[in-house]
Amino acid sequence: MADAPKPKRFYVTTPIYYANDVPHLGHAYTTVAADVIARFKRMTGHEVCFLTGTDEHGKKMEEAAAVKGYTGNAGIQKFCDEVVPNFQNLWKRLNISNTGFIRTTEDRHKKVVRRFWETVQNKGDIYKDKYEGLYCTACEQFYTEKELENGNCPTHKTPAVKLSEESYFFRMQNYQKPLEGYLSSNPGFVQPASRHNETLSFVKGGLTNLSVSRSTFTWGIPVPGDEKHVVYVWMDALVNYLSALGWPDEKKYREFWEDKDAETLHIIGKDILRFHAVYWPTFLMSAGVPLPKQIFAHGWWTVEGQKMSKTLRNVVDPNRLIDTYGADLTRYYLLRAAPFGEDGNFSHEEMANRVIAELSNGVGNLTARVLTQLDRFRNCEIREPAATGAEAGYTAITPLIGGDNGYWNQYCGKMHLLDFYGALDIAQKIVSECDGAVQRTKPWTLGKETGQQAAVFDYMMSDFVQALSCVTLMLAPFMPEKMQELWSQLGYSSSINNVIVADGKLPDMPRAIAKDREILFPNKDAINEIRDRFLAEAKGAVTGAAPAGKDDKASGKKPAKETPPPGVITIDDFMGVELRVATVTAAEKVEKSDKLLKLQVTIGGETRQVIAGIARSYSPEQLVGRQVVVVANLKPAKLMGMESQGMILAAETEDGLVLAGFEKPPKPGSRVK
Ligand code: MSP
Repeated sequence: MADAPKPKRFYVTTPIYYANDVPHLGHAYTTVAADVIARFKRMTGHEVCFLTGTDEHGKKMEEAAAVKGYTGNAGIQKFCDEVVPNFQNLWKRLNISNTGFIRTTEDRHKKVVRRFWETVQNKGDIYKDKYEGLYCTACEQFYTEKELENGNCPTHKTPAVKLSEESYFFRMQNYQKPLEGYLSSNPGFVQPASRHNETLSFVKGGLTNLSVSRSTFTWGIPVPGDEKHVVYVWMDALVNYLSALGWPDEKKYREFWEDKDAETLHIIGKDILRFHAVYWPTFLMSAGVPLPKQIFAHGWWTVEGQKMSKTLRNVVDPNRLIDTYGADLTRYYLLRAAPFGEDGNFSHEEMANRVIAELSNGVGNLTARVLTQLDRFRNCEIREPAATGAEAGYTAITPLIGGDNGYWNQYCGKMHLLDFYGALDIAQKIVSECDGAVQRTKPWTLGKETGQQAAVFDYMMSDFVQALSCVTLMLAPFMPEKMQELWSQLGYSSSINNVIVADGKLPDMPRAIAKDREILFPNKDAINEIRDRFLAEAKGAVTGAAPAGKDDKASGKKPAKETPPPGVITIDDFMGVELRVATVTAAEKVEKSDKLLKLQVTIGGETRQVIAGIARSYSPEQLVGRQVVVVANLKPAKLMGMESQGMILAAETEDGLVLAGFEKPPKPGSRVK
């Protein structure tokens, strides 16, 4: 008996996200992209393993936990347990079909990291030395002077801090030539091509050995045999791609990674290209593990033309988008706003316009037009056509779908390249062709006819239903819920998730469309309302203002003042910030923090406690008696378990922070405007 053919296996991963913050649009983008490709691969007959997760170790997490008052390893773990569901819940809401979720604080991961370390160490690629360098905590990375911009991290624009410590090093230099060779002979390894070139020239520029342990904090995986050190957070994190598969012994690892025919794809943002395309392959080479087949680095989002940042208060919350538009429209827009691989700009206006043009007026409208005629003239039956439309001058669309150069193959080609934008173009093209044909042939008139004309009507209708079936399958990875609904409306009883299109053969057509059909996307009248509500809410999200409720109009209240563009505040907003001259009366270091000082300040007659992140630039002695500017009406916050009743203004310079001051000493307590 012949062996059953080996299944095509596909392993796709997202970065594991730092759990210190709530998920934002950028995280949702990568995860939705990975989900779309995972769903497409399933539909084309692959067995899929789809992994996402959270990165929970490192100084960044330790600091974030401390800000919320969680200290000590048990406290930090508790903090992680509280924040990780933010990601898990969002993925549920977005219908992400991941088959695995890994947390770096799980034992199964820690065990694999230790084993990975030992493998690399046994290879002779790890040694101990002293390290001195400039470190950016936000990236968890050392930089050379040359790489910094005026002493600031090129990504985060914050000062890199000088660190000196004993560290274990990985002999990355040993792998410069092998990696260079690999990249040169595998031009498809890093995608898009521009990222491949960037990686190759970086490697050609020379690799230095890499510090892979830290000893100034303890929140991490202890180095085997030397518990004073923890494994560098990036080495820890990258290994997640293996630990989730049970490297090196489990079947899943052998099937989805080691097997030379398995497709392995890391989808990442361009910000973390070097870690994935340089560090990771060299670690794997050292450990004797095959490299992933492909790394795809997508572009970054800006919001309404500006960098997405907390300071500008323009961080887009995916939950809010889902609340307003639903998961499917959010998913669709994320992959439709810009070609994958290029930077994209999130625009609320454009999102609404795309949805209206391409979904409501596009596939939604076409569906309604076609199905209404079948309902009206054929009582929902899709008849076997007896005549060809050619006889009546009708050119069918279905024949353009199959075949080597047909729409379906073109679509698959684009999807395999992760050209989601191009793939959606093809679906749109079919919709426009159908729209044109409906417009020309006027089935609402033709359907009334009998004889030969009726046969042409049936021919056309089955052509439209087949074309729509193809569009539904093409859109299903992007909008799984809506397309399930459309699939059922077309009369299929199967779940669209279970459809496998092997060799481009689409499922047989149903005999009748569904009788009960809801409008798929908001109709023309509803669109305006949703769009306005959406834009009002979006403005609220950008400015932090409460969304304008429907009731405002009804209650006859004075309309709210016009909201300024994103990133701009009104004079009223500014005057709402109470800046005061304060005098520091006492200052001391905060235990276990190299960043924070505990200050007592007087503002007029009132004494306040302020926890300020200026310890790296000022000693407590330098501060006592000094005048500072304090944000006096800030809601008190807890920092490392201590209440901070205000914030002190300082500017970043090449040499660290410099406190805001005055030319002449002002009266204590006076307002700064
Ligand atoms: N924990 C590391 C990854 C370790 S993987 C072994 C990390 N985490 S992160 O939370 O900072 O997430 C980074 C990823 O989020 C980016 O690579 C990208 O996928 C996504 N994005 C974050 N901000 C983004 C934009 N503004 N635009 C698009 N995606 C971005 O780095």
